[in-house]
Amino acid sequence: MKVLVVDSGGRGHAIAWQFKNDSGVKEVICTPGNAGIAREVRCENARTDEEILELAKKEKVDLVFIGPESPLTRGIVNILLEEKIPVVGPIKRASILEGSKAYTKLLCREIGVPVAEFEVFEDPQKAKDYVAYVKYPVVVKADGLAQGKGSIVCLTNEEAFQAIDRLMIEKIFGDSGNTVVIEKRLYGAEISFFVFTDGESIVPMPVAQDYKRAYDNDEGSNTGGMGGYSPHRLEGEKLTRLVCDKVALPLIRGFTAKEGIPYKGILYMGLMLVEDTPNLLEANVRLGDPEAEVILPRLKTPLSDISLQIIKGVLSEKKVEWSSDYFLDVVAAQGRTRQMKDGRSKGWYPGYPGRYGKGYAISGIENVEDNNCKIFFAGVNMLEKKGLVTDGGRVLHVVGKGKTLLEARTVAYKNIELIQFEGIRYRTDIGKE
Ligand code: AMP
Ligand code: GLY
Repeated sequence: MKVLVVDSGGRGHAIAWQFKNDSGVKEVICTPGNAGIAREVRCENARTDEEILELAKKEKVDLVFIGPESPLTRGIVNILLEEKIPVVGPIKRASILEGSKAYTKLLCREIGVPVAEFEVFEDPQKAKDYVAYVKYPVVVKADGLAQGKGSIVCLTNEEAFQAIDRLMIEKIFGDSGNTVVIEKRLYGAEISFFVFTDGESIVPMPVAQDYKRAYDNDEGSNTGGMGGYSPHRLEGEKLTRLVCDKVALPLIRGFTAKEGIPYKGILYMGLMLVEDTPNLLEANVRLGDPEAEVILPRLKTPLSDISLQIIKGVLSEKKVEWSSDYFLDVVAAQGRTRQMKDGRSKGWYPGYPGRYGKGYAISGIENVEDNNCKIFFAGVNMLEKKGLVTDGGRVLHVVGKGKTLLEARTVAYKNIELIQFEGIRYRTDIGKE
């Protein structure tokens, strides 16, 4: 089987690597990929929906696996299916579960999936009046896509007013902030929970912990994710049943009942456990990043088999096996660096998740020789003169493996110290309990 993975980051690398080690797969292509993924599988430069379709046809691929949300919400799956190309991922209408937080929250309220108290606003003044009225801390969320950075967790009314202004008036995430969801701030254990689904049956994946905030001790702004690990300390049959029964199945079936179409692919649920109730903070229509980097290495069943069963709608026949090993991912991000123009300093870039510089040479990758350590590449590029350079906010994912969380953590941190680039920054508390 020939597989095309559509992604450009660390998650895409993890998916491509999984297929590369899959006995049912002969060749893996990744598009657009990046210079790090290209060390492992062939990367092509198809970026638009038309280019991706053309590539899939030209290469006669047997399966396409979509990593990120934007091609899904644009409708890439519809386009490929029209040409009868097998693809894993929801169609455009079903991708609304990630494309609009307001839609999903209202659906949850309608069908009884637990969510924090919330209201939806299109008018900033009404949003502020609501914040003043409710008298509890809130989270202000851009309705549309914002690369994982569109939810602003607030403590005071002042912070919430500012968040409303930034999303709705300054439009820091463009039209994604035309509508906001204002939600009660919850306190509890947060988990990332994923299922494969063919629209009818679900196969749960192991539980992962993502670290969303930029700095240690969960300080700083939300990011796409600064690290993660799996298995989660709460993972087990009881939690899996609870989430499947209270959230995953009702949501997938409720969506089909409302829209008359199945939700197929992967459903990602960001959950906050409050007194044994799994509250849905967000739904996404894809694998998480960095969660994929710690969950996929645990998958023992070929991903190609699971993918075909999702597509054929026979997932209920599938027994999926997972390893009990621990995997822990520390993200090396682009931190603070000097802004230079014509050889002169122009101040500073604050670094990810704010503005960051690019093009800093990465060294030390060759020193990582540990069999229990895998590097998944995210924001990297290859330049003729400098070799491998930084090209994004999250640069690489250093994943350690171990029989215990501590072992996996020790491997990841020992190896990340071998890597250097200007402004390298990472959290030091991933998996610290
Ligand atoms: P979201 O984009 O909705 O996943 O939110 C991003 C992050 O913000 C989550 O992973 C949580 O850490 C935090 N968050 C979102 N909603 C809430 C909430 N209602 N209460 C507390 N924290 C939240
Ligand atoms: N790790 C969060 C996300 O993938 O959205």
